[in-house]
Amino acid sequence: MILVTGGAGFIGSNFIMNWLGLGKCPIVNLDKLTYAGNLNNLSSLANDSRYTFVYGDIGDRNLVRELLYKYQPFAVINFAAETHVDRSIYCPENFIQTNILSSFNLIDECLSYWKQLTPPQKESFRFVDISTDEVYGSLTSNDPPSKESAQFTPNSPYAASKASFDHLVRAYHQTFALPVLTTHCSNNFGPFQFPEKLIPLVIVNALQGKPLPIYGDGMQIRDWIYVNDHCEAINSVIEKGTPGSSYNIGHETKKTNLDIVKAICKLLDELRPDSPYAPHEKLIEFIADRPGHDRRYALDAEKIKKELGWQPKETFDNGLRKTVTWYLDNQAWMNNILCGDYHAWIATHYNGAPGK
Ligand code: NAD
Ligand code: TYD
Repeated sequence: MILVTGGAGFIGSNFIMNWLGLGKCPIVNLDKLTYAGNLNNLSSLANDSRYTFVYGDIGDRNLVRELLYKYQPFAVINFAAETHVDRSIYCPENFIQTNILSSFNLIDECLSYWKQLTPPQKESFRFVDISTDEVYGSLTSNDPPSKESAQFTPNSPYAASKASFDHLVRAYHQTFALPVLTTHCSNNFGPFQFPEKLIPLVIVNALQGKPLPIYGDGMQIRDWIYVNDHCEAINSVIEKGTPGSSYNIGHETKKTNLDIVKAICKLLDELRPDSPYAPHEKLIEFIADRPGHDRRYALDAEKIKKELGWQPKETFDNGLRKTVTWYLDNQAWMNNILCGDYHAWIATHYNGAPGK
């Protein structure tokens, strides 16, 4: 048994489906179902006896303790987080609460549980901290990709909250010998991503003939990875990673935001040739930049390739085609999300954001 937290979100739900699809052990998924959590992501597992959903907060120590003792997981994989940089600019407090304080409660309960395990159980237990490349901060065009040894220089409240917990995770290994692993992954894309993030936002807006908002000059560079490649990297880390280590997970795609938005527009022109909004590129609108916007992320992922033998399988172009096609084929999933809360966020953010 493994305990996954935040498994009703984008990456967590893909991870659960990938894990069970590979015939691995049962999963308990603890999720608070914030605006980003969506049980529809996991509807394909409704009749799967290997999957158990528990509604709750990773900061609820009693609940976490109860689950650890009841299910005796050999690994805890923490996906639960507040994850959107723009929201962290509006309301940093939620990020401090979940990504630092509640995450502390989770790891501290894991430590208490781990301490009373038998020596072989202790040896095989893993706490996996799913972190981000954003902790390394922004690179200039001349900087080499960030290695795991790079200094943390987080620039957004989101990145700072993730970096903070990464430090705590490291300390729990150094001080208490808890077998922890931290992963730093680049920007994910794929099915089930909440349409506040760039790729699904652009797909959703383009289908409705709404502006495709590009912050600043659109020349910011991200290293995009298809979500299934991330999930398989996490599988390798759980199975083969060295406790106390951190692993970068990246694809080296080097795309600007403008490249990405144009590529989505071209795919939509091809897949929806009769759309009244084609050519979709005419919907592109440059808007004021995100405060503190990181210019470039790039990861050196040689360590996980060499030590654990992981390689990304999906090309960017093919992954993007699969993603756009998935959103076109899953309008019901999307319509479910495009409700009042979603519109409230879009209206506040794109009409009245600081610096806009
Ligand atoms: P998401 O926002 O789609 O999902 C987060 C999930 O966590 C939701 O299901 C939400 O309900 C749940 N959650 C939030 N607070 C909780 C709490 N207190 N207790 C229990 N559940 C809670 O996020 P995502 O994009 O799937 O990201 C998952 C993890 O991967 C995060 O830790 C994020 O920092 C990390 N990450 C994301 C990316 C990316 O590109 N999306 C890249 C690298 C790392
Ligand atoms: P996002 O998907 O929010 O992920 P992150 O901030 O974690 O990298 O943003 C990806 C890039 O796209 C980032 O450089 C900000 C940019 N962006 C826009 O230009 N317009 C938008 O409306 C959004 C949401 C993001």
